[in-house]
Amino acid sequence: MTRLPLEPLHAVLAATPGFMPARASSVAAGVDQVFAFIFWVSAFFLALIVAITVLFVVRYRRRPGRTEPEPTPDHDTRLELLWTVIPLALVFAMFVMSTRAYFRMTSPEASTASPLKVSVTGKRWSWWFDHPNGKGAPELHLVKDRPAELVLASTDVIHSLYVPEFRLKQDAVPGRFTRMFFTPTMAGTFPVLCAEYCGTDHSRMAAQVVVHPDQASFDAWAREGVDAGASLVEVGKRVFTQRGCVACHSLDGSRRVGPTVKGIWGHDVKLADGASVKVDDDYVRESILRPAAKVVAGFPNVMPPAALEERDLQGIVAYLQSLGDTP
Ligand code: CUA
Repeated sequence: MTRLPLEPLHAVLAATPGFMPARASSVAAGVDQVFAFIFWVSAFFLALIVAITVLFVVRYRRRPGRTEPEPTPDHDTRLELLWTVIPLALVFAMFVMSTRAYFRMTSPEASTASPLKVSVTGKRWSWWFDHPNGKGAPELHLVKDRPAELVLASTDVIHSLYVPEFRLKQDAVPGRFTRMFFTPTMAGTFPVLCAEYCGTDHSRMAAQVVVHPDQASFDAWAREGVDAGASLVEVGKRVFTQRGCVACHSLDGSRRVGPTVKGIWGHDVKLADGASVKVDDDYVRESILRPAAKVVAGFPNVMPPAALEERDLQGIVAYLQSLGDTP
């Protein structure tokens, strides 16, 4: 999170009950900084102008015996410069602060964690969120401290995804994609609103975002119902495709970065250390969880371990088995 020199100014606002929502995303501090600065500059000049107005009304009020002074046309260059330069400096400071905050929410964050990419569809009058594993839901699910990338689309008119706790608002425009980049920094459930008037039920076009405390909690939610009623082979096929296994392990016997999975079931394979092993449930399971344990001869030891859930492991085993034992 960026340093916030105006934090004390913001703190006064945040301490006012109901004035500022919780700060739950990586871009929120930057937005609060701009808000606090503009708020207090405005408050200062409001107080100053009201005070001077009251002072002049009292001091120069009409009094018996007092005569109207002659107006004296005057020009003071120093005064002119002063009230040009000070507002210019203030407005320029607002410009720099808000531009920096804006760029932060329109470009991917420099982070080692892979972003959680969610497709968002706005339609009259509801939101729909498609998560990376193929699970769609009427609510948005994210992981705390994992960067999120939202890709917004609309099927009809312009909507606007608004999460006050994230300090984020982005239009969903028909005919094009728009994007949001941020990292949720607080686990919990926050309201999602539509912030662009879109017809009769615009005010009811609400949803919620659930920020999971960790990836495991997100995964548990993500798998709920996804494979309900699916056979193990179907589960395995989905995992094999979605986890990208197929990029290195071909289904047609061709050689890629790793050995093909076609027709290997039940056969012996030669390992890099000279031993040989039979392709069965245990070998497949071990090779997914600890790929370096038994490396097939002639292939590089480059596969990253894949921490699959038990059912996904069973699925892969069933799927590979279903591919047969004839090369
Ligand atoms: Cu959708 Cu307002």
